Amino acid sequence: MIIESLEGGYDKNFTYLIACEKSRQAAVIDAAVGAEQIITTANDLDLKIKYLIITHTHHDHYAWAEALLKKLRRITLVTYSDALSGIGEDEHRMVGDGETMHIGSEEIQFLHTPGHYPDSICILADGAVFTGDTLFIGRTGRTTSPKSDTRELFHSVKDKLLTLPDETVIYPGHNYGEKPHNTLGNEKENNQFLQAESADEFEKIMQEYEESRVVGT
Ligand SMILES: [Fe+2]
Repeated sequence: MIIESLEGGYDKNFTYLIACEKSRQAAVIDAAVGAEQIITTANDLDLKIKYLIITHTHHDHYAWAEALLKKLRRITLVTYSDALSGIGEDEHRMVGDGETMHIGSEEIQFLHTPGHYPDSICILADGAVFTGDTLFIGRTGRTTSPKSDTRELFHSVKDKLLTLPDETVIYPGHNYGEKPHNTLGNEKENNQFLQAESADEFEKIMQEYEESRVVGT
């Protein structure tokens, strides 16, 4: 599978292009950088964008979604919730936990991972996991927005992400870590947010983080 990272947008956001090498069919994960940049990159790599997957409906992750849907015809918008219904004229597919989809001959799978936001999904694809704002390199997503739930985030991470094979490569929604991506095995060892064994313990770690947080990190 081809994975191309584009960084920019609101705050070190990532947009990813993932594609089947043979058919050149591609999906965009989060429309966080300019539509023209996404299209130019796809053209340079000889990819045909068929899907736009949004990891969750915080604005920075779909900032360019409408522009991209307008510029490219016949793209299927893929989300967990109906929050973005009606922004494009083409198909809108809402996916549930565990659902799969094909990009050319590559199968990808969606995991519903609420906590940072209720409609957060992670995408599993060929040994990679695209985690949106559920899990970054070095820490988890924050749970300070009105619909966040820290205990839910704990269970999403523990039950759905930490159970993946250690060699799985994490591709987060923002470049907040020491490196842009990392293996789950390395993160399990080094990410203190992943050391919590209970929801209570996790809540404590999150609270301490928020109290000592330096703005912009
Ligand atoms: Fe977010």
